Amino acid sequence: MCGIIAYRGDGEKDANEVVLKGLKSLEYRGYDSWGVASRKDQKIKQIKNIGKIGHIELEQLGLAKSKTSIGHTRWATHGSVHKRNAHPHASSCGSVSVVHNGIIENFQELRAMLSEEGIEFSTDTDTEVIPHNIMHLMKGGDSFEEAFRKTLLSLRGSFAVVAIHSDHDVLLGARNGSPLVLGIGDNDHFLASDVPAFLEHTSKVTYLDDDDMVVISDSGHKVISLLDGKESIRDIHTVTWDVEQAKKGKYDHFMTKEIDEQKTTIKNAIEQDSELIDKCIEALNDANGVFFVGCGTSYHACVSASYQFSHIAKEHVNVVLASEFRNYEEFLNEKTLMVAVSQSGETADLLDAVKTAKRKGVKIMCIVNVMGSTLMRISDIAVLMNAGPEICVLSTKSYTSQLSILTLLAYGLADRLDEGRRLIMKVSDSVGSIIKKSEPIVSALAERFKTSSNMFLIGRDLAYPSALEGALKIKEVSYIHAEGFAGGELKHGTIALIEENVPVIVLSTDSTRELIVSNAMEIRSRGGYIIGIDSVPNPVFDTFIKIDSFGNADPIAMIIPIQLLSYHLAIQRGCDPDKPRNLAKSVTVK
Ligand code: G6P
Repeated sequence: MCGIIAYRGDGEKDANEVVLKGLKSLEYRGYDSWGVASRKDQKIKQIKNIGKIGHIELEQLGLAKSKTSIGHTRWATHGSVHKRNAHPHASSCGSVSVVHNGIIENFQELRAMLSEEGIEFSTDTDTEVIPHNIMHLMKGGDSFEEAFRKTLLSLRGSFAVVAIHSDHDVLLGARNGSPLVLGIGDNDHFLASDVPAFLEHTSKVTYLDDDDMVVISDSGHKVISLLDGKESIRDIHTVTWDVEQAKKGKYDHFMTKEIDEQKTTIKNAIEQDSELIDKCIEALNDANGVFFVGCGTSYHACVSASYQFSHIAKEHVNVVLASEFRNYEEFLNEKTLMVAVSQSGETADLLDAVKTAKRKGVKIMCIVNVMGSTLMRISDIAVLMNAGPEICVLSTKSYTSQLSILTLLAYGLADRLDEGRRLIMKVSDSVGSIIKKSEPIVSALAERFKTSSNMFLIGRDLAYPSALEGALKIKEVSYIHAEGFAGGELKHGTIALIEENVPVIVLSTDSTRELIVSNAMEIRSRGGYIIGIDSVPNPVFDTFIKIDSFGNADPIAMIIPIQLLSYHLAIQRGCDPDKPRNLAKSVTVK
């Protein structure tokens, strides 16, 4: 949700080029508008525009080569999608330029205070209070560094902020609640919301904590506390993702690349250190009350896993949407275990739920893709998904990685770890053929149903969460209204929407076939068009997509043709599969 990239070098590289490239790789965090501020010869020049930055070339920016530049790609919160609201935002004199990710809850208060001082605002954003306040404090005698620190201390809410000043050859950054990573090159530094923004330049990073401020100058970088200005020494880590993983390569879109990558990511997900898996199983065994928590697709992985924990390990787990978790505070204590599931590890709703749980002494286990993410750092046990960077806004490979790890843990809890591993490996080995065989079928379906207004998905038992996730995939990328139902539920109301030629995807498994086929018949006799996903054909299916049976691991396999169908629907309807409207990959506001 909003992407930040900032660069300060020794003059060899053009900072604007680094920032422009970085912004393009961060667009999945928001693409309502973009902007760059470049510092040269004690002057700052800002360029901004609405829309995506994807096709903008360096020459079009019209900026002279510089050694310091900051950039931002926006997912609008405060203030409409308009050029004036695009970041960077500047002080009235233009000396201070700022980019921000997050929400400043007390911005109205600060704005009123600054307005009383005669400062005029030119945007509708919460961010604009930052450059004005910095300048206001500097006029009162504070240094740029001190004015920045004091300003950020006065903010309530969540932020990652980067600032430059025309007269000061430093780059300042700070975070509290929103992500900001420091990249350390040989003679240069990067500040970014996410590592892929600078991965082609360096793999050395320092993960910043809340209340950290970074000062980057000719003498290198220092991390100080926003609270008292004291310096602290931070570890430097080496990121294991390689730059090729963050590129599209031979694919037209990241979405198909990432669907295809499931040929290896499912396997990578379960190749975990055995001591770590033992630790997870022990924590699950010891817990008195387990909560699976996530948002969006990660939440669906939690719902799916709750069925697996019930079937495989005979263990009840609570599944709660992160944004609703506060409601469960009364039931938490030191014996409770929270399993927090997230691709990014930065989703604000989830981090808020984790903080609520931690206040009650709950142990936190996380399943996360992004190494060094906030979630990883605040958890007691962290299982990395090893899926590599997921750039498409829609979660595809991260979903099947989450499912694989959770399925493995359910088997581990039942003391059948090897059996679980073998089963998941069987799914992994069949991904290539699932994609190959289902692609021509779903592409024809997409052509046929590209103008449909509604699609429905039904599944029972283990296949029900897959129906929820499948509907989410179709909605987010093709904008066709889609809803997933438990097979028995459609008839309790929504069947009223079934009429001639409405497509309904029926997810059928060995253990649910009889009942789900009856539900399919109820739909077909009202004119619905039945797309059956099953290991065996059935006369009720108008179109049949064959997926082998994997028992308890069925959900990992059966989502793949629906991911592909969503992609083809998006293409047929002229939608951008990697950057659907209104969405952001990492939602860092509550
Ligand atoms: C956003 C994304 C979804 C994702 C959800 C949770 O809404 O658009 O694709 O499922 O956040 O993200 P997380 O990183 O916590 O898994």
